[in-house]
Amino acid sequence: MNSTLQQPRHVAIIMDGNGRWARQKGKPRAFGHQAGFHNTRDIVEACGRRQLEALTLFAFSSENWRRPAKEVGLLMDLFLRALKSEVGKLNDNKVQIQFIGERSAFSDKLQKQMIHAEELTKNNQGLRLAIAVNYGGRWDIVNATRLIAEQVKRGELQPQDITADTLSGNISLAGLPEPDLFIRTGGEKRISNYLLWHLAYTELYFTDVLWPSFDESELDKALTFFGGRERRYGRTGDQVAEKNA
Ligand code: FPP
Repeated sequence: MNSTLQQPRHVAIIMDGNGRWARQKGKPRAFGHQAGFHNTRDIVEACGRRQLEALTLFAFSSENWRRPAKEVGLLMDLFLRALKSEVGKLNDNKVQIQFIGERSAFSDKLQKQMIHAEELTKNNQGLRLAIAVNYGGRWDIVNATRLIAEQVKRGELQPQDITADTLSGNISLAGLPEPDLFIRTGGEKRISNYLLWHLAYTELYFTDVLWPSFDESELDKALTFFGGRERRYGRTGDQVAEKNA
C-alpha cells in the first residue's frame, strides 16, 4: 500500500459471503463460517500491523436469529470456540476487545467468555477491536435514547442540552473515533442496520469478494480507496483544498 495515503483510524466491516463461498466449493455452510473465522483472524492481525486504532466487526446481527436453528447453533459454537482459542493471543498482541449489542440473548457460557475477554484486555493499548453480536443500529439508538431519558428523569440533564454529542456519548463505541471506512464484502450494497448513527460521514466501500477470500491484498485495496477520498463533511472541494494548503 502507498504509505503516503491517509489511513483510516477506525474501520468497520460487514463480513458477508461465507455461505456462498462454501457453496461454490460444494461444501456445507458451516465450512464457510469456519473459513470466515480463519479469515477474521488474519484480517485482525493485518489491521494491527497497519496500526489502525480501531476495528469493528459485525459477527452476528439481531436479524441473524432468523436463520435455521441449526446454523445459529453452529455459529454460537464457533464464537465460543473462537473466543476460547483466540483471546490469549489477542491479549499478547495488546488488542483491547469489547463486544457491542444485546448480549443477554446469548448462553451464560458465551456471556462469561465475553466478560473474560473484555476484562483480560481492558488495559491493552493496541488495536481496539469491537465485535458486534446480536447488534442492530436501531436498537443502539433506542438504547442510547433510553439512557439519556433516564438522565433527564434523574434531573442530571436538561432536554434543551441534548445534542448529537450527548447521543454519541451514550451509544455503543462511545470513546472511539467514528468509523471513517466501512467495508462490506459479498456483493450486497446495504448497511443492514449496522452502526446507523456512526456511519453518518463514513466512506463506504463495497466489494463482490466473499469474506473468506477477503485477504490482506483486498484490505489494501479498500485502504487505497479510502486514501484517495476527499472528506468534505458538507464543505466544498475548494474549501477543503484551502484548509489542507
Ligand atoms: C455472513 O455470511 C457471516 C455471518 C452471519 C457470520 C459471521 C461470522 C464469521 C465471519 C466467523 C466468526 C467470526 C468471529 C468474530 C468469531 P453469510 O452466512 O451471510 O453468507 P452468505 O450471504 O453467502 O449466505
